[in-house]
Amino acid sequence: MRIQCVLITEGRFSLQANTIKCKAAVAWEPNKPLVIEEIEVAPPEANEVRIKIVATGVCHTDLYHLFEGMHKEGFPVVLGHEGAGIVESIGPGVTEFQPGDKVIPLFISQCGECRFCKSPKTNQCEKGWAADKYDVMSLAESRFTCRGQKVLQFMGTSTFSEYTVVNEMAVAKIDPMAPLDKVCLLGCGICTGYGAAVNTAKVEPGSTCAVFGLGAVGLAAVMGCKAAGAKKIIAVDINPEKFEKGKVFGATDFVNPKDHDKPISQVLSEMTNGGVDFSLECVGNVAVMRSALESCVKGWGVSVLVGWTDLHDFAARPIQLIAGRTWKGSLFGGFKSKDGVPQMVKAYLNKTVKIDEFITHKMALDQVNDAIELMKHGKWLGHALVLSLAVGIQ
Ligand SMILES: NC(=O)c1ccc[n+]([C@@H]2O[C@H](COP(=O)([O-])OP(=O)(O)OC[C@H]3O[C@@H](n4cnc5c(N)ncnc54)[C@H](O)[C@@H]3O)[C@@H](O)[C@H]2O)c1
Ligand SMILES: [Zn+2]
Ligand SMILES: [Zn+2]
Repeated sequence: MRIQCVLITEGRFSLQANTIKCKAAVAWEPNKPLVIEEIEVAPPEANEVRIKIVATGVCHTDLYHLFEGMHKEGFPVVLGHEGAGIVESIGPGVTEFQPGDKVIPLFISQCGECRFCKSPKTNQCEKGWAADKYDVMSLAESRFTCRGQKVLQFMGTSTFSEYTVVNEMAVAKIDPMAPLDKVCLLGCGICTGYGAAVNTAKVEPGSTCAVFGLGAVGLAAVMGCKAAGAKKIIAVDINPEKFEKGKVFGATDFVNPKDHDKPISQVLSEMTNGGVDFSLECVGNVAVMRSALESCVKGWGVSVLVGWTDLHDFAARPIQLIAGRTWKGSLFGGFKSKDGVPQMVKAYLNKTVKIDEFITHKMALDQVNDAIELMKHGKWLGHALVLSLAVGIQ
């Protein structure tokens, strides 16, 4: 597929000379197919970087916004937040990037200056949409317009577009050797799951683990548990077709809740002499979050929420925590984004983390609705597809 972009040269002073017209998948309203449109991408403003997106994955959080969250003020929007590309131009004040740099846009920023960035305890940052916009999932300001209307930038990134504009505090410069159609998956799913195991749960050598949900996030969590030296990794999914992929990443045991008529926490407890040391919920379902907590051993079990939902409360009985279990959450696998992503790219190039094995489909941007349908119905093994927006320009 070729990128078709046109420079607008109208206007007396050519003020818009740098606006790019390109293709993007626009979500005009919740619960409807995306529409491939020609959008206008304004030039980068101060401290911003305009990126030619080369490839993007699809993450369940895109589907969450479209089909579950459905927050009216969060539309129209260009979804996608798991991409990789090449810097096309830079705005005033940008010194860290140059046109031609290979980059991954980051859905959580790392400004390096706020109290969160300065603390080694967290990867939260006070800047960007993730500071306080978990309902709308984008900032009010956007560099996109389509048919005369402002179109929002999902999670500050919007990778279902041939071009996007991102603040430099939310862009990671990566190794020029990195294949963009692979490392795009480090923009969300793989870092999220892997980091949730390694950074947030802090899985220990010789431990037992359970991972609920085997999409890219859960499979990456399995990979993280294995890298941390877990001896037993139980993969739990209601779709048994996922189990073969689970093996590839290091899962040792497989449980389909549909095969059991007792609570899954009881099944896991019986398999592990009282419960696992670590459990990770990678589904986004509050009932599964509870099961994951209850699957942990009392005394020291740690359960991590990775699945994304802000729609329902979740519950457990206080004694389950009083008895020594810990319940925590993990955003982007606990990685400080600008620091962590280039390191994960290096780990891939050094063959210490897998990426290729996650990729089951390659599609063009025009097929994004097919990709969404596949994910919605869990119809592909593993997960993670690459929309090859411009294969061949790397
Ligand atoms: N915390 C974060 O920073 C972060 C980042 C990215 C994604 N997420 C979230 O992680 C979750 C997983 O994302 P993904 O892209 O891998 O999704 P996915 O749709 O590819 O995978 C979800 C998996 O869960 C399985 N599943 C569904 N119901 C289940 C149940 N009751 N028990 C066990 N398994 C069940 C499905 O069969 C599927 O294999 C989503 O909620 C996503 O929004 C969170
Ligand atoms: Zn994601
Ligand atoms: Zn910050």
